[in-house]
Amino acid sequence: MSAYERVLRPILFRLDAERAHNLALWAVARGLIRTRLVKDDRLQVSANNLYFSNPVGLAAGVDKDATAVSRWSSLGFGFAEVGTLTYHGQPGNPKPRLIRIPEDKAIINRMGFNNGGISAAAPRLASRGAGIPIGVNIGKSKVTPIEDAAAEYAKIYEIAWKLGDYVVVNVSSPNTPDLRSLQDKQALSDILTAMRTVKEGERIFVKISPDLTVGQLEDVVEVGWQQRIAGFIATNTTVSRDGLSRPTQEVGGLSGRPLKPLADDNLQLLSEMVNGEMTLIGVGGIFSAQDVLDKLRLGASLVQIYSGWVYNGPGFVPKLLLGLLDAMNEANALNLSELTSKGVAPTG
Ligand code: FNR
Repeated sequence: MSAYERVLRPILFRLDAERAHNLALWAVARGLIRTRLVKDDRLQVSANNLYFSNPVGLAAGVDKDATAVSRWSSLGFGFAEVGTLTYHGQPGNPKPRLIRIPEDKAIINRMGFNNGGISAAAPRLASRGAGIPIGVNIGKSKVTPIEDAAAEYAKIYEIAWKLGDYVVVNVSSPNTPDLRSLQDKQALSDILTAMRTVKEGERIFVKISPDLTVGQLEDVVEVGWQQRIAGFIATNTTVSRDGLSRPTQEVGGLSGRPLKPLADDNLQLLSEMVNGEMTLIGVGGIFSAQDVLDKLRLGASLVQIYSGWVYNGPGFVPKLLLGLLDAMNEANALNLSELTSKGVAPTG
């Protein structure tokens, strides 16, 4: 057990989940939480002309307002994604809206894009200085009618493209009414067309839901090709409750360990559809180096974590990276792509 699991986690887990989150984020933003850094050239990844010192990133939703944007590198992350940021600042859904399910290493959330708006976050992003690649995840404001979504994504993008190394179109949160309908072929195509009218040639990723049918996934990929996006992030939280040990009435998106099989299935399908010609970022249920490796082997170039970080704390990224390095030593692999093509299992 790490010091986090022994000391800090019991304290944080006694607090209401959202207060614990805010407290932890406050401490990160002030540089009060650090970890040992694992640096090794064999962990580096290049994708879409960006350099990543390791493939493990912070998933969207942890640092919604980019208040700790300069600090994630000191926690070992190879990249970080801030947001979801909307055009209008908004309070999100009524509390409680963040529920931990420790026995299943899961979380249900119905936060509803609580954030101060892209303009409020912009100065923090603009002044962050050099460091790890930063993604800016954008979504539709609750007050904006779904018919006006494309115009609003374009307005946010006008601010966002200058602020991040990549931009993520979030059309997959289950907690904004109708948002996921924006994954429909025409709606997604309209959003990306409107964004590309603002600025061509930037790195745009689309973050997808794990609850799409295969047909819907094919449509999303077709739009992605047509619009020449950089790739996909798979996946957001699920509305399914599969894999939980007890039934729950809590509404919202499920993440953590129970999400892994579903997220991996989606990643695999996507991978077959894009055939190595788009970048895939795998997210959902990573709790070990083996879980990272599973996603890399299914075709992800990079991965992200949220729930695993909540349950394992600041030592988690180094633990994952050391596990990958152990597996590389065992396989005599000189880099991650060599490792993913060999069948060695990591110890971590
Ligand atoms: C999220 N996630 C999320 N995703 C996103 O694109 N925008 C967001 O604002 C949020 N907010 C958010 C809040 C909370 C409390 C959680 C738990 C999750 C989804 C997240 O980025 C990730 O896709 C899933 O959580 C799956 O990964 P894990 O948690 O299983 O590692």
